Amino acid sequence: MADYKEIISAYKDLPGGIIEAYHAIQKEYSYIPEDAVVAAAQAFDISKARAYGVATFYSYLKVGKRGKNVIRICESAPCHVAGADKVVAALEKELGIKMGETTEDGKFTLEFTECVGQCQATPLITINSKPYGDVTTEKIPGIIAEY
Ligand code: FES
Repeated sequence: MADYKEIISAYKDLPGGIIEAYHAIQKEYSYIPEDAVVAAAQAFDISKARAYGVATFYSYLKVGKRGKNVIRICESAPCHVAGADKVVAALEKELGIKMGETTEDGKFTLEFTECVGQCQATPLITINSKPYGDVTTEKIPGIIAEY
């Protein structure tokens, strides 16, 4: 998945680029990580407060804190076909949050990702970049308990 820094630099020199960049980031992550707002402020050479203001002005943009552990669910076609939807539902249920959200204790964030190149083990999730393949809904509580 595209790093938010790459996304930001792709829009850096366009008029109104920051809004476009936020859009693209949200599309990729389902929300705008707070770190991305800070990176946008730097890239567009504006204050952090201003970058934050732009992000929160539009109600369809969602800025969020990232949890200590970031769980990503691959939503590319092979994983999707293998039942990524069920994994998403199980994770949401286990953690009591929706995709793009962070648990109240700041421990977990749920994000989507694109194919991470481990399609032999679909459906796949990663936690802090460590891959877990062939995930089933039954395996979710055990995996989460490791953290
Ligand atoms: S499609 Fe999910 S890892 Fe490749």
